Amino acid sequence: MEERHRPMNSLLKTACNSVLLMPLAGLLYAQAAHSVPKQPFGKVDGETVYLYTLKNASGMEVTITNYGGTLTSVKAPDRQKKFDDVVLGFDNVDGYTQKLNTAYFGAIIGRYGNRIANGTFTLDGHTYHIPINDGPNALHGGTKGFNAHIWEAKEVSSEYGPGVELHYVSPDGQEGFPGTLNVTVRYSLGAKNELRIDYTATTDKDTVLNLTNHSYFNLSGAGSATALNHLVTLVADKFTPINSTLIPTGAIQNVAGTPLDFRKATRVGERINDKYQQLIYAKGYDHNFVLNSPGNLNAMAAKVEDPASGRVMEVFTTQPGIQFYTGNFLDGKIHGIGGAYRYRSALCFETQHFPDSPNHPNFPSTVLRPGQTFHSTTIYRFSTE
Ligand code: GLA
Repeated sequence: MEERHRPMNSLLKTACNSVLLMPLAGLLYAQAAHSVPKQPFGKVDGETVYLYTLKNASGMEVTITNYGGTLTSVKAPDRQKKFDDVVLGFDNVDGYTQKLNTAYFGAIIGRYGNRIANGTFTLDGHTYHIPINDGPNALHGGTKGFNAHIWEAKEVSSEYGPGVELHYVSPDGQEGFPGTLNVTVRYSLGAKNELRIDYTATTDKDTVLNLTNHSYFNLSGAGSATALNHLVTLVADKFTPINSTLIPTGAIQNVAGTPLDFRKATRVGERINDKYQQLIYAKGYDHNFVLNSPGNLNAMAAKVEDPASGRVMEVFTTQPGIQFYTGNFLDGKIHGIGGAYRYRSALCFETQHFPDSPNHPNFPSTVLRPGQTFHSTTIYRFSTE
């Protein structure tokens, strides 16, 4: 009898303990769900940089390094619930610092995303010169943009989900830009598979800024041979046409009747080789689309669907534009986590102000003055169909 009762007793005890411990376990779980594991990701100029992992309850996982504030992987489920990394990246910081890497994979771009014509602009009567690094123009903040600096990082947790907050102070005069710019970028992962990026910045002198993230997406999995079979929707009636060096002409043109009309979901490859001057200049799509609902985070700005995997990504942003870029400068020479990163094998949706705005008074202003705080938010939401 004694022997038979013992297991019952201990079962009972375990059950009692579980009941008592349940609230504590819940607490621990909540903390665990929002903890942000951190691990070394290699060294840059002798300094260790780290990789931060954000996870949500449905199993989605994203990693960010404080080198360049770079998003290094995004594991999202397909229609069979199989997780794959859908952004191009590397498993060590050396991939990002290598000379061959001119693609800005996953990085935070600043102080000025995209091009400034001849690296020159005038603000308050002063002319500023940014180093030329792309033909005759300055691209993505000059020779050493925000993508090539080490950011301070801390884990944060909000009702939205786990996050990592990155901070960088760009000194007055860095890469020719006026004013000390204090920048904070927060990545968070929501419960409904939304990757959210919040940017804030302040300055101590009048300056210009255009911050974005330069992730390359392939919803079939990073390293897949092409992204041309993805279907893209861009909620934009207009775009800013470019000249042969990819600088906006200043015009704001209707997409209607052009191969840049993505108002209905269209296969990326369908018209990319059309003999249309804008596509010839850019070797594909590399254009700023003027969003129909600037400033409205609830209005969808873009959608990408991958018929093969069933993965879908929607883009929401407070920014007025999206640079839609089809990886026309990728050439297969760079190998990352997914293998060779080939020509047109990924798509970028760089939410931002318009390229070269400091030289186009008719574009939304990119000027930031002391006392003002710049804010922008972009959400990439993943689902399946
Ligand atoms: C942006 C530009 C492209 C190219 C890439 C980086 O998308 O518009 O022209 O420079 O960055 O390779």
